[in-house]
Amino acid sequence: MKRSEVNRIMRDAVTFAHEHHFHLPPFAFWTPQEWATKGEEAREIVDHMLGWDITDFGSGNYARTGLFIFTIRNGTMDALRKGRGKVYAEKLLISDVDQVTPMHFHWSKTEDIINRGGGKLVIQLYNSTKDEGLDPGEVSVSIDGVRRTVKAGDTVVLEPGESISITSGLYHKFWGEDSRVLVGEVSSVNDDNVDNRFYEPVGRFPEIEEDEPPLYPLVKDYPKFYHPAK
Ligand SMILES: [Fe+2]
Repeated sequence: MKRSEVNRIMRDAVTFAHEHHFHLPPFAFWTPQEWATKGEEAREIVDHMLGWDITDFGSGNYARTGLFIFTIRNGTMDALRKGRGKVYAEKLLISDVDQVTPMHFHWSKTEDIINRGGGKLVIQLYNSTKDEGLDPGEVSVSIDGVRRTVKAGDTVVLEPGESISITSGLYHKFWGEDSRVLVGEVSSVNDDNVDNRFYEPVGRFPEIEEDEPPLYPLVKDYPKFYHPAK
């Protein structure tokens, strides 16, 4: 992705979120120059991978295969193992019309995907087999506390206000319908470096072509701008 495209997506996302009365935390708006002045007090943002995480999954076509992600909070796998402390995470996502997040499951994470407003969110579901294939058996899911059974590969459609619980090992692929969707994700601890199993190989983080300066750093840019020891 070009940096100019990432910057444009950031500006659009802030406007769209504000239209839905959703506001990002202050560190969302720290510029690279401000990041360069931050010390150890900002360590959690970096270590827990909070912040801007815009990806085209290596597709080169964000509009067709991509996802806007902002990680608002996240715990650690260590806390999860101990069963105390910050064992949860929250993200803001934006799915555009027919913009697909590819089929994947998580080995560890259980996540609720929430339609916070805008269009409809369509989610395709499969159970996974032991060898990480698509299971032909029917899928049982909880949608806002109501159990529903669908055929393998069927879709469920979430209207604004509705949410689905995606348990670990459950394959899911999703996209917006009718109009751009503001999506919430509330989950157990998230580790995008190790906890994503994509059905077809994708790049979880994009390659960035630096055609203009970054508006705000992506999570993967922190090592470039954050040097607390200096
Ligand atoms: Fe997921």
